[in-house]
Amino acid sequence: MELFLDSAVIAEVEEISSGGVLGGVTTNPTLIRRSGGDFKKTIQRIAELCPGPISAEVNSMDCDGMVSEARELKELLPDNVIIKIPCTAEGLAATTILSKEGIDVNMTLVFSVSQALLSAKAGACYVSPFIGRIDDKGEDGMKLIAEIMQAWNNDSSITCKVLAASIRSLAHVELSARLGAHAATIPTTIFHQMIKHELTDVGIEKFLADWDAVESEGRA
Ligand code: E4P
Repeated sequence: MELFLDSAVIAEVEEISSGGVLGGVTTNPTLIRRSGGDFKKTIQRIAELCPGPISAEVNSMDCDGMVSEARELKELLPDNVIIKIPCTAEGLAATTILSKEGIDVNMTLVFSVSQALLSAKAGACYVSPFIGRIDDKGEDGMKLIAEIMQAWNNDSSITCKVLAASIRSLAHVELSARLGAHAATIPTTIFHQMIKHELTDVGIEKFLADWDAVESEGRA
């Protein structure tokens, strides 16, 4: 499973990409707003830091507007930038046009198998089911990932990758991987949790103490 960072904060992209595990970055208008940076300059910088796909979202809600925004972004920004489009009827029509032009689309705000299937058939390169927002409603977001993967397994013509989004916990990441999601976009705090384990810390402490003992006994 590819590991993407769900952030538009340059310092976070720098930090996480330095570990060498970052497969891509997703942004959205909320994340851009939170970052405090200029939209295009921020995407440009992120695209320089991470070679994988960088999702930049359109803000138009009609097909023509989405298509022209997407073309403009592709013109101005590096090649690894892909276009994030909301899963609406207009978004589907725009995705059909853009995919025929070879412009990669990440279909976002997906909450059902039907929406995921339509996105794939329209030619989206990624489909982003929002796990956490489903959990927030008291339902089971992971169930949607399982159902989409089941539908994908039944249709070998689908090439669209499932990108688990709206991740809120380590369990979301691990279950997405176990269910066969192709990618997960992960907030920085969860990336930090992924590397931590209390037994790793305890183990390091013990090794360091034993190494000190070896040194003090003149055996280093
Ligand atoms: C994905 O591409 C979205 O940016 C993101 O995962 C949304 O997550 P949220 O529900 O935490 O806002």
